[in-house]
Amino acid sequence: MKGKLTEIKWLPEYDIKVEIIDESHRSLVDLINKLADMINRKACPETMSEIFFSLIHYAESYLIREEILLRDLGYSQLDQHKAKHRLFIEKIKSFRESFSSGDPDICQDLYNFLVDWFHEHILQYDKETIAFLKGKGIS
Ligand SMILES: [Fe+2]
Repeated sequence: MKGKLTEIKWLPEYDIKVEIIDESHRSLVDLINKLADMINRKACPETMSEIFFSLIHYAESYLIREEILLRDLGYSQLDQHKAKHRLFIEKIKSFRESFSSGDPDICQDLYNFLVDWFHEHILQYDKETIAFLKGKGIS
């Protein structure tokens, strides 16, 4: 790894003004920053269980709440959106397996995956989804 990983700073434009979703996005950023800090301190992978624990919580609590919100509002792209969440969960499970089997690159690989997810799923957070929420008057 070259140099230290830098922290992701939350910017006001990341907020989409829907509490459940903003809370979920912020909690993921906190988690990514925690992982970066662990990698920087070379405390990884010894402290990875904690990260997996938080990731499972993120998936079980926030992703599901987001799906319920979108379902209740009658979002037509819900299946596609849920499929992305499922893929995320599958990937986290496979990272956990690699971790259990002692993969030495697990910390950096997981970090890269989460940063990509942050950019793809969160920063570009399905523009369509946001447009839908605004249309419903809740954003
Ligand atoms: Fe989502």
